[in-house]
Amino acid sequence: MNADHEYGYFTEADSADVVVARNKNAKDERLKQIMEVITRKLHEAVKEIEPTQDEWFRAIMFLTETGQICNEWRQEYILLSDILGVSMLVDAINNRKPSGASESTVLGPFHVAGAPELPMGADICLDQKGEPMFVHGHILDTKGNPVEGAKIDVWQANDEGFYDVQQKGIQPDFNLRGVFRTGPDGRYWFRGVKPKYYPIPDDGPVGKLLGALGRHPNRPAHLHYIISADGYEPLTTHIFDPDDPYINSDAVFGVKKSLLAEFVKIDDATAATTVGLKAPYYDVEFDFVLSRAKTA
Ligand code: BEZ
Ligand code: FE
Repeated sequence: MNADHEYGYFTEADSADVVVARNKNAKDERLKQIMEVITRKLHEAVKEIEPTQDEWFRAIMFLTETGQICNEWRQEYILLSDILGVSMLVDAINNRKPSGASESTVLGPFHVAGAPELPMGADICLDQKGEPMFVHGHILDTKGNPVEGAKIDVWQANDEGFYDVQQKGIQPDFNLRGVFRTGPDGRYWFRGVKPKYYPIPDDGPVGKLLGALGRHPNRPAHLHYIISADGYEPLTTHIFDPDDPYINSDAVFGVKKSLLAEFVKIDDATAATTVGLKAPYYDVEFDFVLSRAKTA
């Protein structure tokens, strides 16, 4: 046995040990550890699956096509991670919250930095399409105190299930997006339209895989939020419509029980006038609870 063959030559039985041993001089300990775990689990999976040469090549072509469809705005590998539940798992590991704090969920690909900062109460629907909705609540700390100066960055799909960036020239720029800042009472309120479920981009290899697995590509209706405030952990989350047909089968596993809001239909002209809308409209009340920054 020479220095390159601490585990001897490559054999089916010793395959993972041989590869792991070859990485012994890795310059970065974390990389070495990650590659060891991935190598061992991957070899274990291959041994259990026993792919034919053709199946292995189809997997290679799937990954090749996944890379080839990526561009500046299309990230098919993140979609793959999403539908495998890995994005939500990484999110859970990195966002363990103290009890009482609002839970996080995936960011998704449709956030746009630099949305306009709007006065509290503004209507983020710029094209007047869809069923009107009034969204309101408080930003609180885990003791129930209001958080002043919290920045609420909100975005949502329209009533047909499209974000503005997916319908350039059809929806106005920054339609259904806005940034709001809370005052001393921690209260927030704004107007929008009732969102609808929509498919994740499904015209590529990930969509084909979902089809082959007998899965639909849809995400239940939701509003996205990034909420940040000095001294608190930023919160990236959604609220969901519990009556959505896909609420129990989100294609990317983003739904959590604590993030279900109520979309209450109000058919009362006086109430509608009070919130600057026409009846009927949907009332959505939801409080968000921020946890203290770990390093504060
Ligand atoms: C979204 O909610 O915007 C989203 C999340 C994951 C994949 C695709 C879209
Ligand atoms: Fe979304």
